[in-house]
Amino acid sequence: MQIITDPAEMQSIAESLRLQHQFIGVVMTMGALHEGHLSLVRLARQKAGTVIMTIFVNPIQFGPEEDFHRYPRPFEQDAALARSAGIDYLFVPSPEQIYPEGFLTAIEPGPLSSLFEGRFRPGHFSGVATVVVKLINITRPHIAIFGEKDAQQLAVIRQVTRDLNIGTSIIGAPIARQSDGLATSSRNVYLSSSEREQATVLYRAIQYAEQETGRGRSDLAAIADEAGAIILTAPDAVTDYLCFVDDETFEPAEEAASGKAYRLVMAVRIGTTRLIDNWRFACP
Ligand code: PAF
Repeated sequence: MQIITDPAEMQSIAESLRLQHQFIGVVMTMGALHEGHLSLVRLARQKAGTVIMTIFVNPIQFGPEEDFHRYPRPFEQDAALARSAGIDYLFVPSPEQIYPEGFLTAIEPGPLSSLFEGRFRPGHFSGVATVVVKLINITRPHIAIFGEKDAQQLAVIRQVTRDLNIGTSIIGAPIARQSDGLATSSRNVYLSSSEREQATVLYRAIQYAEQETGRGRSDLAAIADEAGAIILTAPDAVTDYLCFVDDETFEPAEEAASGKAYRLVMAVRIGTTRLIDNWRFACP
């Protein structure tokens, strides 16, 4: 595995790989690698001859009160994991290399980016979209793999790459969960042991929704209210949102219609840690 920090060097390597007809896959991360990231790498390895991983804690996708400064950065551990997962190139630029003096451009992804996560994190999706397009331009991948845990992020990235005719195929990978159902996330390390236990309410709410829609209920707003009550059984939980949405537009959905796909999306703070999760279902 080759570690590269200079964007120009990464771009020229990617260009020459393309000239050699290598099929390139990229897995973009902010580091603090866990099983979720490794499952993205496994998918990339199945589909691509060369796999590039990027590690970059992107300052412009964090709000002023968010955890940019305390975001975990265990670089040595990440590099060892990336190497053993079979990454060919690890691209680890500095903030100054990605946003040099005079950098002024921002991508505004449209209405999807002001709903849910976008409402609670103003500017977040513009920051994500801008860095993702830059990282695509630098690594020149044929495919880019993103986790479905960040379902709204995935939808925003699909929108932006489609709108801007970026020729990279965007592939979603299933959510990796721990044995009690908690979705793997770099932010799980912030949870104390009592909070970690309470965090299982997110998956319990999902299981409840799965059970109720599975027995034919279509009253999504009521099911969401009942799932929300499960979240509140955790004493330190505060729900930012919990709602069924249309799986394509992320517009809130009250009632399921046959043949359509929906997603239960949620963001819950347990103490000072904000967790997100979601579950997709297609109405028969
Ligand atoms: O999902 C993430 O880790 C980040 O939002 C991403 C896509 C690497 C952009 O910084």
